[in-house]
Amino acid sequence: MKVIIFLFICVIRVTLGEVLPIPPLLEREEGVFHLKVVEGKHEFFQGIEEETLGYNGDILGPTLRVRKGDEVEIHVKNTLEDETTVHWHGLRVISAMDGGPHQVIPPGATWKVRFPIEQGAATLWYHPHLLHRTGPQVYRGLAGLLIIEDERSEALKLPRDYGVDDIPLIIQDRRFNSKGRLEYLTRPEDIIDGMLGDTGVVNGVLAPTFSPRLGVTRFRILNGANARTFYLRFSDNRTFYQIATDGGFLEKPVGRRELILSPGERAEIIVNFTSSDKDLQLRDGDYTLLTFMPGREPGEVEKLPKELVKGAESIDTSKLKRRYFVMQGTGRSVNINGKQMDMRRIDEYVKLGETEVWVVTNSSHHMGMGMMMGGQMGMMGNIPHPFHIHNTQFRILSRNGLPPSRWERGDKDTVLVSPGESIELLVEFRHVGLYMYHCHILEHEDMGMMGQFNVSR
Ligand code: C2O
Ligand code: CU
Ligand code: CU
Repeated sequence: MKVIIFLFICVIRVTLGEVLPIPPLLEREEGVFHLKVVEGKHEFFQGIEEETLGYNGDILGPTLRVRKGDEVEIHVKNTLEDETTVHWHGLRVISAMDGGPHQVIPPGATWKVRFPIEQGAATLWYHPHLLHRTGPQVYRGLAGLLIIEDERSEALKLPRDYGVDDIPLIIQDRRFNSKGRLEYLTRPEDIIDGMLGDTGVVNGVLAPTFSPRLGVTRFRILNGANARTFYLRFSDNRTFYQIATDGGFLEKPVGRRELILSPGERAEIIVNFTSSDKDLQLRDGDYTLLTFMPGREPGEVEKLPKELVKGAESIDTSKLKRRYFVMQGTGRSVNINGKQMDMRRIDEYVKLGETEVWVVTNSSHHMGMGMMMGGQMGMMGNIPHPFHIHNTQFRILSRNGLPPSRWERGDKDTVLVSPGESIELLVEFRHVGLYMYHCHILEHEDMGMMGQFNVSR
């Protein structure tokens, strides 16, 4: 009988999820954003307190909203007993402010950064980037959004009332043991696949519900998972419109039914809700991440703009310098070009302001069905790797020689490279210093699937 009651409570807890929490917008104090890295307590399951990490709170962090042209000052105080760093993922910034593995914030210290925002409207994010220890810190809760607005984003008729019709969704996955406690790297396959959870978490909460206005709502979606690629769809398979990639607006809204986001990637989408959308769900495959309960209030924006930004001019890439990056290996041997991360070694030397083509290949092989025997997939190293580059927003020129899909033609900083695939990226760097490129499966990064490039005049 006890068991039955327990199960019953479980069912209730999952079906009547919590209301979706919205990370608060951080206010500047005398012109400065203050972030405090703190230990927290968070209940993923009612009554089960978990030890988590957060910025200014128990889990995740506030949203920093800035504007192109702003001079931004941020003070990060580390109150942990452990070191940390804060990396501004997607931001073009000098390397001393980048927050990579070289900018360690010791326990008790405050890291002060100041930089101008030189790029256009986009949804970026921030997270720790310690050598070999990024995965566990993100997993415990350290991640937040950094939103850039500009003249264009303010002029476009798009929903942009933060938390009302402009909704951040930080999507992650976690694994819990039978007692409802967080588990990290507890299975042998975790070393190969990275830390895949079995439970979806949105803005820090399991299976939340959200009440949109009637009409259109904008979602800024971040895949903040350590290793999982999400295949997002609505339960009725409706069409939604993607308006932005990692680094900003697409030229035009692109109608889609599925959004594939690998770790580190972002997308902004527009969804139209009507009063009959009760119980509509956002799913990853069959898994329900978020349930919608539309309210009654009509939204403000009715029609999507036809053009968002000017499309990029096509350029002749035949004379550009090409660099090759091969992602290979499996488990503890994952590497790029046969090398694993070494803080003292610079792998590539790049000239400031020069445009190059980076060719990124995932050399693990596509297998025939006959080889896909239970659980052996990972063992064969047949894993997609999301490739990320610091200090830039790049363009995808081609995937295996074919032009990218319409929804991939915006600015990007992270790109999923499937087994056997080769992708050409158009890159260009506007700041000098030492930066990282790496796989954004955090356990791969931590095991050394990362390299360093130096940008100089
Ligand atoms: Cu989002 Cu080098 O990381
Ligand atoms: Cu980054
Ligand atoms: Cu990887």
